[in-house]
Amino acid sequence: MDFTGKVALITGGGGGIGRATALGFALRGAKVMVVDADADAGQASVDIITQRGATSAFLQADVTQARSVKDYVEKTLAAYGRIDCFFNNAGIEGVVRPTQDYDEDIFDKVIAVNLKGVFLGLRHVLPVMLRQGSGAIVNTASVAGLFGSPGMPAYVASKHGVLGLTKVASTDVAALGVRVNAVCPGPVETRMMRSLESQRDSNNPEGVHAALAAGIPTGRYAQPEEVAGAVLYLCSELSGDVTGTHIVIDGGRSGSGGVAPAKRA
Ligand SMILES: NC(=O)c1ccc[n+]([C@@H]2O[C@H](COP(=O)([O-])OP(=O)(O)OC[C@H]3O[C@@H](n4cnc5c(N)ncnc54)[C@H](O)[C@@H]3O)[C@@H](O)[C@H]2O)c1
Repeated sequence: MDFTGKVALITGGGGGIGRATALGFALRGAKVMVVDADADAGQASVDIITQRGATSAFLQADVTQARSVKDYVEKTLAAYGRIDCFFNNAGIEGVVRPTQDYDEDIFDKVIAVNLKGVFLGLRHVLPVMLRQGSGAIVNTASVAGLFGSPGMPAYVASKHGVLGLTKVASTDVAALGVRVNAVCPGPVETRMMRSLESQRDSNNPEGVHAALAAGIPTGRYAQPEEVAGAVLYLCSELSGDVTGTHIVIDGGRSGSGGVAPAKRA
């Protein structure tokens, strides 16, 4: 996979999966624009990339605000002239609470970042790619876009919605040279899982981690770089006829129907 001469734009680029993907693009030749609400985290990703001799810059933006999204698109074009790959990835977990107790404000916030933020990214990046006549977009969904997860109504609804947006947007532009796909990670070793583990049991987050990992056939969470690998593939010419679909990166868990692997003798 060679992204020499290409420009990659990544939201949530200061976070675990976004940073690994930004570095993956940069080390394969792309110029990388890192977008994040958290300026320190986003700039840290850029520093890691530029220390490796690659080209990258940071833009602070809030993906829930149309003006902010337009701004990161315009500034990326001003800096690098085009957008070949767009990783539409910023997301938040919200809280772990049963649906009957879930706070309306938190519901709105999760939907605003995870679903509206992804829509706004599509809404403002697709016209750029359509003018170019080429481009590839990967939206970050989750296995929570495929199955339920107790106590996560907003997150699960938002990620199901991301897969819906992926299907519609991909067919809207399929004949025009632009592809839109999604990734569906299971648990990944990032801040987000640390938050969910301590929300599920603040006295024993390590126990939650161990129990979740034991339910995955590989016996472990994914590393962010393993999600990045799927994103890079979906943005590369190797996946030239792949659009409107998703790749699951979950160590075989959904393939097992969620049934914990048999213990080895
Ligand atoms: N970690 C997992 O286990 C896992 C599994 C499946 C899907 N995902 C998804 O992967 C994506 C990345 O998550 P991560 O694990 O790297 O978590 P993370 O918290 O490390 O990264 C998320 C990044 O998004 C940024 N962000 C949040 N709200 C924003 C906003 N309004 N505008 C701009 N940036 C904003 C945060 O500042 C953060 O840097 C998310 O969409 C998440 O839902 C994560």
